[in-house]
Amino acid sequence: MSRARLVVALDVPDAESARAAAARLHGHADVLKIGLELFAAEGPALVREFSEAGWGIFLDLKLHDIPATVQRAVARTADLGVELLTLHATGGPAMLSAAADGRGGATLPRLLGVTVLTSMDQAQMEAVGLDGTPSEAVARLCGLAQQSGCDGVVASVLEAAAIKAARGTDFLVVTPGIRPAGSARDDQSRVATPADAVRAGADYLVVGRPILRASDPVAAADAIRREMETALGDE
Ligand code: C5P
Repeated sequence: MSRARLVVALDVPDAESARAAAARLHGHADVLKIGLELFAAEGPALVREFSEAGWGIFLDLKLHDIPATVQRAVARTADLGVELLTLHATGGPAMLSAAADGRGGATLPRLLGVTVLTSMDQAQMEAVGLDGTPSEAVARLCGLAQQSGCDGVVASVLEAAAIKAARGTDFLVVTPGIRPAGSARDDQSRVATPADAVRAGADYLVVGRPILRASDPVAAADAIRREMETALGDE
């Protein structure tokens, strides 16, 4: 298995806070995740700035629109040097295939399907017409994402091993909800340690508050990376 990469979720409101965190963590993490909040505030200029500074960029925009619009949006993110980009698998096969075409033959950005948001329970799923239990829907949408040209999915560590078994080791699994032993859960309900994530086969571990809110973010990131390396050595 190749080395799993550490993604820091830059859940901050503006460029100043984002730059401060990125400068501190340079060399101590691999990828920065920019989500809707920071992208809405600062736009593509900040993405380009971090990409040009050598960071891998995970642009978590969760695209869901008509195929032509998504295809063009993917092309623009490719211009920015984005490594990972999310889109909703429920956008359907035509939208997902168009997204893959948006790369124009390049391999980046790697496209990650979002299957069932963790904020959705059975009642919420039924309200939008999604059949089956959440885990059945996740399995079905992972298959759809793979068949439609996505490179992987965002999933919890608890689902990672089953997804790898069903979809093959090359199908990327990106896992949030990571908490080093002893750290606060915050609002995450289903958490796993960095070692659990690596052992389950995760390719990218997304960590926000346990690093950004630590009294020493560099030490927190280094400890997570050490735990990841040790777990990889156990394989
Ligand atoms: O601070 P924390 O480590 O909980 O941050 C996790 C990041 O992963 C946040 O940006 C959050 O939005 C994202 N995420 C998540 N759970 C999901 C999908 C994404 O926590 N199911």
